Amino acid sequence: MKKGIFTLLAALLLVNISMAQNDATEAQIDALLAKMTLEEKIGQMNQYSGFFDATGPAPAEGYTKERYEHIKTGMVGSMLNVRGAKEVRAMQELAVENSRLGIPMIFGFDVIHGFKTTTPIPLAEAASWDLEAIEQSARVAAIEASAAGLNWTFAPMVDISRDARWGRVMEGAGEDPYLGCMIAKARVNGFQGQDLSANNTIAACAKHFAAYGFAESGKDYNTADIGLSTLYNVVLPPFKAAAEAGVATFMNSFNELNGIPATGNVFLQRDILKGEWAYKGFVVSDWGSITEMIDHSYAENGLHASELAVNAGSDMDMESHLYVKHLKKLVESGKIAEAKIDDAVRRILRAKFQLGLFDDPYKYCDETREETLIYHEDHMASALDIAKKSIVLLKNEGGLLPLPKEGKKIALIGPLAEDKNSPLGNWRLASDDHTAISVVEGMQAYPSNELTVSQGVALIEGETSFPSHVKLNEDDRSGMSKAVKIAKKADVVIMVLGEHGFQSGEGRSRSNLGLPGLQQELLEAVYKVNKNIVLVLMNGRPLALPWADDHIPAIVEAWQLGTQSGHAIAQVLYGDYNPSGKLPMTFPRDVGQVPIYYNYKNTGRPGPKNEVFWSHYTDQPNTPLYPFGYGLSYTSFEYTDLNISDPTADRTVEVNITLKNTGNVEGEEVAQLYIRDRVASVTRPVKELKGFKKVELKAGESKTLTFTLTEKELGFYNNEGKYVVETGDFEVMVGGNSVETLNGEFRLE
Ligand code: NOJ
Repeated sequence: MKKGIFTLLAALLLVNISMAQNDATEAQIDALLAKMTLEEKIGQMNQYSGFFDATGPAPAEGYTKERYEHIKTGMVGSMLNVRGAKEVRAMQELAVENSRLGIPMIFGFDVIHGFKTTTPIPLAEAASWDLEAIEQSARVAAIEASAAGLNWTFAPMVDISRDARWGRVMEGAGEDPYLGCMIAKARVNGFQGQDLSANNTIAACAKHFAAYGFAESGKDYNTADIGLSTLYNVVLPPFKAAAEAGVATFMNSFNELNGIPATGNVFLQRDILKGEWAYKGFVVSDWGSITEMIDHSYAENGLHASELAVNAGSDMDMESHLYVKHLKKLVESGKIAEAKIDDAVRRILRAKFQLGLFDDPYKYCDETREETLIYHEDHMASALDIAKKSIVLLKNEGGLLPLPKEGKKIALIGPLAEDKNSPLGNWRLASDDHTAISVVEGMQAYPSNELTVSQGVALIEGETSFPSHVKLNEDDRSGMSKAVKIAKKADVVIMVLGEHGFQSGEGRSRSNLGLPGLQQELLEAVYKVNKNIVLVLMNGRPLALPWADDHIPAIVEAWQLGTQSGHAIAQVLYGDYNPSGKLPMTFPRDVGQVPIYYNYKNTGRPGPKNEVFWSHYTDQPNTPLYPFGYGLSYTSFEYTDLNISDPTADRTVEVNITLKNTGNVEGEEVAQLYIRDRVASVTRPVKELKGFKKVELKAGESKTLTFTLTEKELGFYNNEGKYVVETGDFEVMVGGNSVETLNGEFRLE
């Protein structure tokens, strides 16, 4: 009892301290704002990308000279793409030592999945369903980035997407808003830690606000035209979760939403974000997205675009170069109220105060710290941990996996088997090329089997370092016969196939979801001589591989796992880690099914039916190849005793289930709980994830798992954006994926 009182008092004290700190910060911002000229305020709203060697001589003329002068005169609030303790210090000095008020700049960078130590692509990490490991991965990224002078990352991307054609699905948490919310929070906490002013934490940025993941036909930057129900219930929740977790900034997006570009969208940025959600951080535009409103046919010219963007609440101009040029005129002509400029600047200064930049503008610029922390062994350990947890076992017929550790002849075949670059993924600006542990290297750590290696076919033509266009190899089959030869002699063939690291990511949409280039041909040629194949997939998005699913006995989804990729894969193949990942996105049978997702609506013509007039395809089942939440283990799990309590007066429902490890080895299972609201004033999906637990069980061990459903899980947003909880019948489904579940129900009064 006493302990409880002390905890409560301590919590109250902390709240009081933080309120007092907030008041003090607001007073400091007021004082600074009062000293600033209109030009200086506008300067804070301007962000440039790194443009010259900061440690070298000053540029003599032209464009870079102008930017250099802008920094010195306080006309730049932030830089992106400058990194390194020494480089950032030099840039910061230019602003702090020369400008009238010496306001420090904030330095942003795309720290998306690791900095130097590269962790799995975010979609892969989402497959771990392990919030602690995901938070730790962001923590590692923050420690390394902050040691390299940075204090702001443009992550997490919290865009929900149902379309595997979109190249940026690799950067998000997949298709589900509930999982997306949990992961958004974990990532924000990982980057920002407990104390944003510490020198090893960085400001996070929830992006891209909003609906960027709903680009029509999966084509990047394309129009998003979605209904309010989807906007409120699917797109916005992870952004709200990030805001509630205290994310310091937001980034808007390139797309238009229902006819209004996000960058000029008053409804999104003013009404919802800064209005309803009372968000206090600032919004940075996406790269050039203010100018792009001209191409959207929404703004007449740069002047007009600036007016629209500021009035809609876009606080900082990333690389449109329009605010510095036009805002003064727009304020003087009354097109923008100075109060709106003050509001934007207040938000930007607040972030700088919170980061502690006014106490010490160079606090992130310690070269010794940088040297010690980059590629630190603890970071490698975290990267390996999350890499193993991200792997999803899709198929394992006849117990082909795990592999015996000795006495076997193993043929390792495929263009990605030796690749040290693709596993680093696309969004790894800072990591060093060709530094991932390849699958071959990972397998060599188990020397008691005989290993032979052949690429079979090249995946792409030419150099692999950040090519803007990956040119696929479509006709060089010269290595194929060697691959077939070694496959013939092997006990087991491991084929490492998939996408090149730069086939997913920004601007890299695909209209085909099969194995690119000649890989399918290679797979079938090898299969003809040896059917004992383990297919290891490396890819940045769900693929459609029905042939492989029909023929290949073992399939392992290994995404792009970062620096430790090969070790993680080998440890899973040899059973030193029992795979526990579950798909965060549905894998289709065919690209024609896309967008395909588990939480679809029932329609007025659900099926399956023995006639033609129901919602289906005539040439393909409605079901996916692998459903959301799916993933196998080297052991097996059994779900029994589903027990659902009656709702309490405050509408809380308890769901219990017994989970048993029925196999022979220890393993982890992600138990998932879904609900269906049978009848509602706005139609609800056939199922929605509302809880999950990742549980470790020894062979033969059972545990009772308890899930709690409250109004937070049982309601939804209606088309006025109001959260409602309605009475009626609910179904409850619990299982190891979104399809195979134990089902029950309850009624909410
Ligand atoms: C454009 C991308 O859409 C965004 O996510 C990224 O942060 C910026 N470029 C800055 O690199």
